[in-house]
Amino acid sequence: MSDDTQAARIQQAAERLRNSRKPVVLTGAGVSKESGVPTFRDAVDGLWAQYDPSQLATPTAFMNNPKLVWDWYEYRRSMISVARPNLGHRALADLEQRFPHLPLITQNVDDLHEQAGSTNVIHLHGNIAQSKCFFNCQGDPTLIDVSTLTWDKENGPPACPHCGRWVRPNVVWFGEILPADQLQAATIASRQADIMLVVGTSGLVTPAASLPGIARSAGAFIIEINPDYSAITRIADIKLDGPSGEVMPHLLAALDS
Ligand code: OAD
Repeated sequence: MSDDTQAARIQQAAERLRNSRKPVVLTGAGVSKESGVPTFRDAVDGLWAQYDPSQLATPTAFMNNPKLVWDWYEYRRSMISVARPNLGHRALADLEQRFPHLPLITQNVDDLHEQAGSTNVIHLHGNIAQSKCFFNCQGDPTLIDVSTLTWDKENGPPACPHCGRWVRPNVVWFGEILPADQLQAATIASRQADIMLVVGTSGLVTPAASLPGIARSAGAFIIEINPDYSAITRIADIKLDGPSGEVMPHLLAALDS
């Protein structure tokens, strides 16, 4: 990696993007942080600094204490429902003006990329606004519109209207496999890319964390945007330091200059 100044690295990244035919974007929780949605692994205010994922984000945790897990997701849903896209989301949506159908692979369960205007979003870890039958009794996924149900919220999740068993959030928990169609689309986009922009992820959770390596092995140039070091930094060809809400608009401005 070069040790030029950040401004020079932004110019280099913009030059690469200008000549790109097939860029792809991979985002993580960092891109939503400036919208008020906490990340998972930031040491002070990350969710996993305050909560134990084994008690809240596994199928076993849900089976052991469905109310605790449901209520925690309700809390996160309420936080996310008031969040609005930040300048990082908006700059990534603007990039799609230059690269129509730009694949944007995200690990985030919010819809802030879509709210900003991105249209080709691949959600690897599900959608927190949705709910589904824990047993997917009508096929995978059996989505349930909980706004049409009435139930005693003191007792935790509602019952599936089809089978009477639990409803759960439509997110991927530890130990679960990712939605096959989304993972396949993400893998194909990564293999075909000539540039991958990796924005706001620690790169610690596979299979998402493997995608930059897949892209790089297939010849892609890796540009990382993160205020910190991550597991991706060592394979990044250019690392742009800083929050995505600041760095992405600079990159877009350099691309247009
Ligand atoms: P992490 O919380 O692991 O990492 C967030 C990354 O964002 C870190 O590398 C931060 O340095 C960086 N960051 C912080 N603020 C930023 C900002 N303003 N702009 C850009 N980057 C910033 O989040 P993920 O990598 O998304 O999985 O975590 C991956 C998965 O682990 C999540 O999808 C979730 C979690 O357990 C599931 O829920 C299945």
